[in-house]
Amino acid sequence: MIILGIESSCDDTSASIVKDGYVLSNIMASQEVHEKFGGVVPELASRAHQQNIVPVVDQAIESAGVQLEDLDAVAFTRGPGLLGSLLVGTSFSKGLALARNIPLIEVNHLHAHILSHFIKNEGAEEKLPEFPFLCLLVSGGHTQIVIMEDYHNIKVIGKTIDDAAGEAFDKCAKLMGLSYPGGPLIDKLAKLGNPDAYRFSKPKLSGFDYSFSGLKTSFLYFVRDQLKIDPEFIEKNKPDLAASLQKTIIDILMNKLKKAIVSTGIKEIGIAGGVAANSGLRNALISEAELSGIKVYLPAFSYTTDNAAMVAITGYYKAQNNDFAPLNITPDARLNF
Ligand code: KG4
Ligand code: ZN
Repeated sequence: MIILGIESSCDDTSASIVKDGYVLSNIMASQEVHEKFGGVVPELASRAHQQNIVPVVDQAIESAGVQLEDLDAVAFTRGPGLLGSLLVGTSFSKGLALARNIPLIEVNHLHAHILSHFIKNEGAEEKLPEFPFLCLLVSGGHTQIVIMEDYHNIKVIGKTIDDAAGEAFDKCAKLMGLSYPGGPLIDKLAKLGNPDAYRFSKPKLSGFDYSFSGLKTSFLYFVRDQLKIDPEFIEKNKPDLAASLQKTIIDILMNKLKKAIVSTGIKEIGIAGGVAANSGLRNALISEAELSGIKVYLPAFSYTTDNAAMVAITGYYKAQNNDFAPLNITPDARLNF
């Protein structure tokens, strides 16, 4: 079965071909237009998707070595995300399904991030997670701890009550004068700094829920106070600020994840979403595996941030379940599990 996956929920236009669970291509066009605005501008994102979608799909088909006529189904991200962005991928997919007379598969973007762990690569001997699988989903818009009972049944046991982890990276990075998205830049700078240079506040929430707005405020007030003493404070201390911020975010994430591991007794553990690319978080998880005997799954970098391979693989498993969408389906910016 050959599936075309389309992802357009935020600011990355991506198309991928997956054949029987193996990825043949995964093409991405990111949008630099947002950098100077310090965040994604929805109207500009939607327009850029319109420009990108046809060439990106063309390239995905060509580099997979298949023909348009070979496609058995088209899977697309229905939500959550920016409505104007989702509309582009949804409309394109509906048009293609209608024109080719092939089934349409709607995909939840968060489900896709989690199932990125099940993407297989031709020729690679990969060990895939077994169910039940505990996954920390950390992206720019979401932070959740979920239990995957199987490919389709997701139980959310913890989530952020305010900002997402990626948002905490991006907003603090913006305060430091870094461009958007700040997460990868903080990751890079953090490698050069002292993670114990500064302390920022951590939330005291019970259960498995997260909160990052207090950290953001504590970072803002600290930097503001230091700038009063030395206007060059940020410039002089960028690596230490980045390293201390990153350590605090990772401590918060790992603390609840470790609690969830103990409480559920699940030993198959993964991370997914853009922040799963963070080297500090990946190392923290590897260390935890050495300490407590859990089995850790880290997605390839190309499958952490938004990509269509994860959409196509989710489409593949939904097709196995005969879970197809009608042609009158509409995107849903707030789509839930
Ligand atoms: O999953 P994603 O591509 O989009 C959403 O669905 O939100 O995640 C984007 C987020 C951004 O907040 C970005 O700063 C963050 O992932 N991110 C990182 C890293 N790479 C991407 N955060 C920390 N360290 C990284 N290396
Ligand atoms: Zn995402």
